Amino acid sequence: MCGVVGYVGDKKAQDFLISGLKRLEYRGYDSAGIVTLAEDGTPTLLRAQGKIVNLEEKLAKNKRDDKIGIGHTRWATHGEPSENNAHPHRAGDIFVVHNGIIENYKELKEQLKEHEFKSETDSEVLAALINSFYHGGKYNLADAVVQALKLVNGTYGIAVVSTKNPDEMVVARSGSPLVIGVGNDETLIASDASALVGHTKRAIYLNDGEVAVITKDSIEIKTLNAEPVSAKVEEIETNLAAIQKGGYEHFLLKEIMEQPESLTETLRGRVNVENGTVRLGGPGLTEAELRKIKHLIIVGCGTAYHAGMLAGYYIEQFTPEITIETVIASEYRYRSAYIPKDSVALIVSQSGETADTLACLREIKKQGVKTIGIVNAIGSTIAREVDGGTYVHVGPEISVASTKAFTSQVIAMVMFGLTIAQAKGVKSNILRPYVEEIAKMPEEIRKVLSSVGDEVKGVAKKYCEYEHAIYLGRDTAYPTAMEGALKLKEISYVDANAYAFGELKHGPLALVDDRFFEVALIPRGHLYEKSLSNVQEVLARGGHVLAVTNADDIGLSVDSVVKITTSLEIFAPILMNLVSQLFAYYVTVAKGYNVDQPRNLAKSVTVE
Ligand code: F6R
Repeated sequence: MCGVVGYVGDKKAQDFLISGLKRLEYRGYDSAGIVTLAEDGTPTLLRAQGKIVNLEEKLAKNKRDDKIGIGHTRWATHGEPSENNAHPHRAGDIFVVHNGIIENYKELKEQLKEHEFKSETDSEVLAALINSFYHGGKYNLADAVVQALKLVNGTYGIAVVSTKNPDEMVVARSGSPLVIGVGNDETLIASDASALVGHTKRAIYLNDGEVAVITKDSIEIKTLNAEPVSAKVEEIETNLAAIQKGGYEHFLLKEIMEQPESLTETLRGRVNVENGTVRLGGPGLTEAELRKIKHLIIVGCGTAYHAGMLAGYYIEQFTPEITIETVIASEYRYRSAYIPKDSVALIVSQSGETADTLACLREIKKQGVKTIGIVNAIGSTIAREVDGGTYVHVGPEISVASTKAFTSQVIAMVMFGLTIAQAKGVKSNILRPYVEEIAKMPEEIRKVLSSVGDEVKGVAKKYCEYEHAIYLGRDTAYPTAMEGALKLKEISYVDANAYAFGELKHGPLALVDDRFFEVALIPRGHLYEKSLSNVQEVLARGGHVLAVTNADDIGLSVDSVVKITTSLEIFAPILMNLVSQLFAYYVTVAKGYNVDQPRNLAKSVTVE
């Protein structure tokens, strides 16, 4: 979602602010801005609607040597994307950038009559509120920020500077991430550690309810109640190569193609093929605790939800006496669902910051249920708040559409299921095939990716003119179809929906006509024939079927077939999903849309 950056040090602040904002572009935004302060406090405020190149045009005429500044990429919530609504917002002598939402902004605005509002944003209300305490010198900047934040309901990750004190920056967070980079004679801040890569490897992740006063060589952290916090400096693991395109035209293609390596990282040290077992250290559950589990709740949004659903289908195949419910976080947080005793909740999130998923985590914890994170972003809020967890270690996922995270989330959850099954004494002849296929999967992914690319590209050209698509699958191919449809719709804007094959006759079959094409996922296995019968029903009604299969010959005259060659049987649907990922990518390229930053979407959804 929005991005925040800040700099105080000996170098030109504008340089870091712009490069930092560019690193955060992937999160999605529609306007951007920076402010820097000269030694005497003179501000240079530059804001622009649209992409950062627009801001850079303004910057070219307003270069400054200023050594302190803050910047922001805005994803509109309150008020349209426009220069006036872009951050930083000014109130008196202070400038504020803000990620998150101030829920009681209307009520606060009523009380801030002295400020002349120039934007429609909730963030300017926050700026005016801070200034109401700061103006007149009764409070210093940090105390003014604290006083203001005590009146605020909502979420925030903020950075504040004052023209009266151009050596210092105040930052605070509640519900929106904020990382402080500790450099040599410089301190940097960002809402995402990727902006700091290449500048410093040392980072402090601020916790909710903490405020930090930052200069170029000092960082003082307190809680809103003025209790001092001793900062824990952690290492940023990401390297520059991981956040660059590395020769690919788009991050999305890079991330699809790097799945053999990213899954290898997920598996590292966790799979013992010889013994047919897996071992996960992170969840921190004893054998006795694992044995007691009777119910798994899997919580996520979007792709993470689909990963949870697919993993659930697998886990129930080999784990006895366990019920599994996969839920959409934005729904579950408001349901009155009863969570049975002996439950464990898997909290699935690539970013580790998704607002709804985080809210569920907190709700579930309140009910005394153990929570296990399946998270990618190290040090993220969800990763820090869960009781235990398994990082998927796929490295930064920059493209808005999630790809490599999905594959690794599914497998990390299946491995968690296997640890439960092992503890419950499930016979190794039942579990071994899963472990063996998991171990082989990176290589099988490599083979599929290196063989189907051109074919999928050709097929994508054939279907790119359609406006509607139906994805179909049974059993494990059904959540896979859901994920395929999501990928296509979010980047190519084709109206794509997924149905279980068996549901066709209960309604969706009525849709089939020349405006639609159908992507049928047909893995070999016990439901293969049934899937083929359903495809026939679609064909009989004039459907335009693209079949994706690992069978040699499906024996039906469909429009197109993409055949994957693999020794995997159980996890063949995951390999079919690679085809869906590539298909969505090539359709989008053929249509000429922005692959990595689809309209209206943000990478990390930190507001509800
Ligand atoms: C789709 C996509 C989203 C995310 C969802 C959850 O490609 O990326 O649907 O999967 O917003 O995000 P995380 O996993 O960060 O919680």
